[in-house]
Amino acid sequence: MIDLVKRVFLWDVAQAVYLRLERIAQAIALYDWEKRRCPPAPSLLKQRTVKAYGKALSSQVLVETGTYMGAMVDACKDRFSRIYSIELDPALCRRARQRFAHLPHITILCGDSGVLLPSVLPELTQPCLFWLDAHYSGGITARGDLQTPIAQELRHILDHCPTEHAILIDDAHLFVGEDGYPTLEQVRALVGDRRPGWTFAVKDDIIRIHAPLPR
Ligand SMILES: C[S@@+](CC[C@H](N)C(=O)[O-])C[C@H]1O[C@@H](n2cnc3c(N)ncnc32)[C@H](O)[C@@H]1O
Repeated sequence: MIDLVKRVFLWDVAQAVYLRLERIAQAIALYDWEKRRCPPAPSLLKQRTVKAYGKALSSQVLVETGTYMGAMVDACKDRFSRIYSIELDPALCRRARQRFAHLPHITILCGDSGVLLPSVLPELTQPCLFWLDAHYSGGITARGDLQTPIAQELRHILDHCPTEHAILIDDAHLFVGEDGYPTLEQVRALVGDRRPGWTFAVKDDIIRIHAPLPR
C-alpha cells in the first residue's frame, strides 16, 4: 500500500515537473521567435492566435485540418463549444480519438481533409474558424496524394460555403508554389475573387482570411 502511494506521488511530481519544463520551453521558443522571426512560429503563439480569433469573431466552432498529437485541440477545448479535427494518419487519429474520448464536443475524423471537408461543411450552420494545418511534415506525419491538401481545402470552403467563416492557415513561408503549395499571391487572388472586400494578411507565419473584424 505504501509502495502504491509512493508511486502515485512520484508520478504526480514527474508530471508537474514535465508540465513546468514544457512551459519554460514554450516561453523560450516565444522569446526566440520575437527576436529572430525564423519559421516555424512557436506552437504557443499559434494557439494564442487561434483562440484570439475565436474570441474576436465570437466563434464557437473550430475546424482543424491536421490533428497530429492534438496540441491545438487540447489548447482550444475550453474556448470552443464544438471542435472538428481531421487527421490522415490512422495511428495519430486513433491516439487523438482516445485522448479526447471523454469530451463529446470534440470530433476527430480520420482521412484526407481535402476529401473529408465537404462532409463537415454542411454541419457548420454558424460562423466558424478554420485552422488549416494539414501537410506532410516528416517523421510520423502522413502524406496524401500531395504534400498538402490546402488548395482543395480552400476551394471547398470558398466555393461551397454560404456561411461567412474565417480561415487561418499555418506555415505561410511554405507558400512558394512548390510541392502542392500555391503561392501567397495565388491565395490572395483566389480570396479577392471569391470574397471581395475580405482581409488577406500574413502575420507570424499565419495566413489570415476573413471579413473585416468587428471593432
Ligand atoms: C503540422 S502537423 C499538425 C499540427 C497540429 N495542427 C497542431 O497545431 O498541433 C500536420 C498534420 O497533418 C497531417 N496530414 C498530412 N496530410 C494530411 C491530409 N491530406 N489530410 C489530413 N491530415 C493530413 C499529418 O499527418 C500531420 O499530423
